[in-house]
Amino acid sequence: MKQGLFVTFEGTEGVGKSTAIASASDWLTEQGVAHRVTREPGGTPMAEEIRELLLRSREEVVDPTCELLLMFAARAQHLARLIRPSLEAGEWVLCDRFTDATYAYQAGGRGLDAVSVTQLESLVQGESLRPDAVLWLDAPVATGMARIAGRGGGPDRFEYERIRFFENVRQVYEARAADPTNHYRRIDAAGSVEEVAAGVRRTMGELHREWQYLR
Ligand code: TMP
Repeated sequence: MKQGLFVTFEGTEGVGKSTAIASASDWLTEQGVAHRVTREPGGTPMAEEIRELLLRSREEVVDPTCELLLMFAARAQHLARLIRPSLEAGEWVLCDRFTDATYAYQAGGRGLDAVSVTQLESLVQGESLRPDAVLWLDAPVATGMARIAGRGGGPDRFEYERIRFFENVRQVYEARAADPTNHYRRIDAAGSVEEVAAGVRRTMGELHREWQYLR
């Protein structure tokens, strides 16, 4: 059986990733394509515990390198226990964020050296495991922030960051999207829920055709 496709979803806060992933998953179900939906940080019980550590607001200032290492610790567990086995079994994996988020948030947002991210990426993922497609939901940072403000539950530790931080995060996504080896597919996330869902379904259709004929 051929390998499943590894599709990740990225973007700044409030761009509608959850709705986009639900549309993508519905589309695959309609086509009869076996798939798993998961997220980072998280995706296994232990990685979800690391997520809780990372997202909880706390008085202690979190060192950016501590944050970086915890992201990759969770990722190593997620890859070993869920992502690799699913892909090898022929299932597609739809993942809410992956290493592109580490480039965007820990390097772009926190200001860590991107070389450290690349080194950990090689250590944890080897040289071949990379997303087959990164669906980048792109909207102006202010649009996403306004959407978050309308949500219940209160901000997590990342959502407390200021607009400058998210502008830097968005710039990294934009720069990475310009490099074809990163396999980005930009989806305009500034439109209505229906328009974004249509963009996601169209992109899933393209990926599915490529997967069927090119592999
Ligand atoms: P979420 O709100 O999209 O579920 O993601 C949780 C937060 O974790 C989000 O603010 C981005 C952040 N994050 C990083 O900073 N680095 C990473 O590598 C990942 C996967 C997420």
